[in-house]
Amino acid sequence: MDVQRAIQQRRSVRRYKSIPVEEEKLELLLEAARLAPTGSNTQSGRFIVIREDEMRTQVAQVSHDQKWMTEAPLFIACVADVRARIPSGELVLDEESADFELKQCIRDVSIQGEHIVLQAEELGLSSCWIGWYTQEEIRRVLDIPADKYVVAVLVLGYANEDPKARPRKRLDEIVHHEKWQG
Ligand SMILES: Cc1cc2nc3c(=O)[nH]c(=O)nc-3n(C[C@H](O)[C@H](O)[C@H](O)COP(=O)(O)O)c2cc1C
Repeated sequence: MDVQRAIQQRRSVRRYKSIPVEEEKLELLLEAARLAPTGSNTQSGRFIVIREDEMRTQVAQVSHDQKWMTEAPLFIACVADVRARIPSGELVLDEESADFELKQCIRDVSIQGEHIVLQAEELGLSSCWIGWYTQEEIRRVLDIPADKYVVAVLVLGYANEDPKARPRKRLDEIVHHEKWQG
């Protein structure tokens, strides 16, 4: 599959078959994250592979109880280890944090996450980004220290639905030329 096709056919999928994701495919997903670009090659992304029923249930619960999530056999929590950019000192991160370095990390880990999503398409897997949780709750469930930031949880598996494309703005609504007013 070429990249254009993967981009065009990807949908957020919220119904999954109860088929596990093969180990070789999981490795390719993680490799796609590893190879993504990051600012100054800082590579702050850390990835928690979540497959146990109990863990997926708890992650779904703290994600505003989005029960459908647990149908997906595989979650990958995409975590920014901000220590890659702020090595020492007190650091407690949450939704209110304004640190410049945190913003850089979120940008990097988001790119890594989308690499996973597009690689999944090529492997015949579907996915959905999840961002509807609080740092405090998701960190508690996953035992993540307060100086890390959970950028997203990706749910992955074999689709059991075929959603239509969601609407997008037209190009002339989002593209400027040379300057903002152009
Ligand atoms: C950062 C991010 C967080 C998201 N969080 C959720 C979520 O918590 N629950 C959910 O059902 N969908 C979530 N989505 C999926 C969006 O709703 C979806 O991408 C959007 O409606 C467009 O649909 P499409 O992905 O099928 O094109 C999230 C997407 C992104 C990029």
